[in-house]
Amino acid sequence: MNKEHTKILGAEEHDLVQAAAILRAGKLVAFPTETVYGLGGDARQGQAVAGIFEAKGRPTFNPLIAHLPSVETAQRYVQWTDQAQQLADAFWPGPLTLVLPLRDGHGISPLVTAGLKTLAIRVPAHPTARRLLALVDGPVAAPSANPSGRISPTTAAHVQAGLDGRLAAIVDDGACGVGLESTIIGLAGSRPMLLRPGGLAAEDIEAVLGHPLQQRDTQDPLTAPGQLLSHYAPNERVRLNATQAEPGELLLGFGAMPCDLNLSENGGLAEAAANLFGHFHQLDALNKPIAVAPIPMHGLGQAINDRLQRAAAPRD
Ligand code: TXA
Ligand code: MG
Repeated sequence: MNKEHTKILGAEEHDLVQAAAILRAGKLVAFPTETVYGLGGDARQGQAVAGIFEAKGRPTFNPLIAHLPSVETAQRYVQWTDQAQQLADAFWPGPLTLVLPLRDGHGISPLVTAGLKTLAIRVPAHPTARRLLALVDGPVAAPSANPSGRISPTTAAHVQAGLDGRLAAIVDDGACGVGLESTIIGLAGSRPMLLRPGGLAAEDIEAVLGHPLQQRDTQDPLTAPGQLLSHYAPNERVRLNATQAEPGELLLGFGAMPCDLNLSENGGLAEAAANLFGHFHQLDALNKPIAVAPIPMHGLGQAINDRLQRAAAPRD
């Protein structure tokens, strides 16, 4: 692929006007959201979307999320339902993605959905992301801004380290507050399904719906296309549920314990989620195997454990 000069932009209005113009010209711009940094491209321009897959080295069967500045704009692209309205009222803008059937005449490139008849949509809460999306005035497809299979980026420096020269610009607005990708809920079937645990706890969604979420069938590629078992992988091996480091290992701790880096000394799950990828990036730079302390399964712990299991999974 052709290397291009990657411009670093700030988050002032004039920076975002420039970033929006670059996106409308069909080029790629990484931008912060409250979950992770996204690698954005205009979802209506096939070449821009193809560029996202190329820059990440991402398999094209793995569909992307379309980002929109408001609930009203999101409704233009999908067949809206009462449950979608209920969840949007409660959690948008925020770290929640909804999968709904596409509307006719939507104008979204089929590369975004990997040919599926459904579209994943999200209205992020990060003010910089919202302003950029409003300026683009159209759907922006954005996966996490990291090479496919590697650790997700929660700072502009992470994006630059992984993708420099493969995108036109990076909007730098500091570290992401949530630190884990959005929770994805499928609303195209008979009952709402948890397609990916993420930065919004499943319990909070269930409380609004008034009933438990259906769990995804991991054997069915349609319910979670492209969610690969090995993902978020540091360079070296990852070992889970470790109470102490073996010789040569670095220990990533949780709660009060001796360790090399701690996700949350107080045992806070939101703090651990916000630190997870950044701490992984730091330990990764030391090129040693990583042992990780046990993390409880409730609340954001479900998504943290999901990412840890993928980081520790056997690789091809
Ligand atoms: O927080 C996030 O969600 C971040 C920020 C940038 O918004 N984005 C993100 O995108 O995590 P990505 O590409 O890393 O993960 C999107 C996942 C895909 O792996 C795929 O499984 C799922 O969304 N997905 C997309 N379209 C889908 C669809 N039509 N049906 C089911 N799952 C879909
Ligand atoms: Mg990703």
